[in-house]
Amino acid sequence: MNKIEIGNIQAEYTDKNGTFLALKNVSFAVREGEFVSIIGSSGCGKSTLLGILQGIISPTSGNAFIDGQPITGPGTNRAAVFQHYSLFPWMTVRKNIAFGLKQAKKDLTRNERYETANIFLKKVGLTGFEHKYPFQLSGGMQQRAAIARALAMDTDILLMDEPFGAIDAKNRSNMQELLLTLWEGDGRSKKKTVVFVTHDIDEAIFLSDRIIMLSNSPGQIAAEFDVHFPRPRIHSTIRETGEYINLRNKLMALFYDENTGVAATEEYAI
Ligand SMILES: Nc1ncnc2c1ncn2[C@@H]1O[C@H](COP(=O)(O)OP(=O)(O)O)[C@@H](O)[C@H]1O
Ligand SMILES: [Mg+2]
Repeated sequence: MNKIEIGNIQAEYTDKNGTFLALKNVSFAVREGEFVSIIGSSGCGKSTLLGILQGIISPTSGNAFIDGQPITGPGTNRAAVFQHYSLFPWMTVRKNIAFGLKQAKKDLTRNERYETANIFLKKVGLTGFEHKYPFQLSGGMQQRAAIARALAMDTDILLMDEPFGAIDAKNRSNMQELLLTLWEGDGRSKKKTVVFVTHDIDEAIFLSDRIIMLSNSPGQIAAEFDVHFPRPRIHSTIRETGEYINLRNKLMALFYDENTGVAATEEYAI
């Protein structure tokens, strides 16, 4: 079943210099429980697309549906994590998570919100840091807190916009593994539907069930790849395979090709 459906989206920005076409004819669907990455160079419209799914940007034309309902604004079925500014700087990390819960799960008592916050801080390895403010934490710890907040809200959909973009390489691969571990859960509960924006090809391959590549100016879908590596995934085992190198080379060629505007669809299977 499709959780998200985007049909023929066009997005324009108008300022004193005129009108700029940021997204053109973008159509895709995301199945329930699927992990899809949107990849493309800076300025190709990734954040605009995520903003449309979040309900904070209106497309100029086209359709955007969640569960078959048109997106008309932000909703409690979606949680978002950004590269920066996901946490409120004036709240401790525990308060940040409790505040997210107050919006998403209105029936919880104050105590239940704090208890849930503690549970999710533990999952991301931040026990002992509940009462710290974001500025007292490293970038990686802040992002772990932001992920804890988004997961605690227990929404059907997780929207992530380059959440590990400012984190060093070693911590970044740890964070990717942590994200997948939390997303996969115990295998009993339903998986969240994830739309993950990145400009990092390795990150997209490691995380995704499917990769959608956008071309630049205007942003349109250049190619789509299914990624069939078995889960759970660990970096060290995937990166050495010929299949990984093959897929990476194809993505790199498209990424750095000036003509990525040409539509192509490719099935990638092990
Ligand atoms: N508020 C805005 N006003 C005018 N142009 C914008 C605005 N927001 C984004 N843009 C332009 O739209 C294009 C896509 O932006 P964005 O979605 O942020 O790209 P990405 O996230 O892929 O880097 C860029 O060229 C950007 O300069
Ligand atoms: Mg962006």
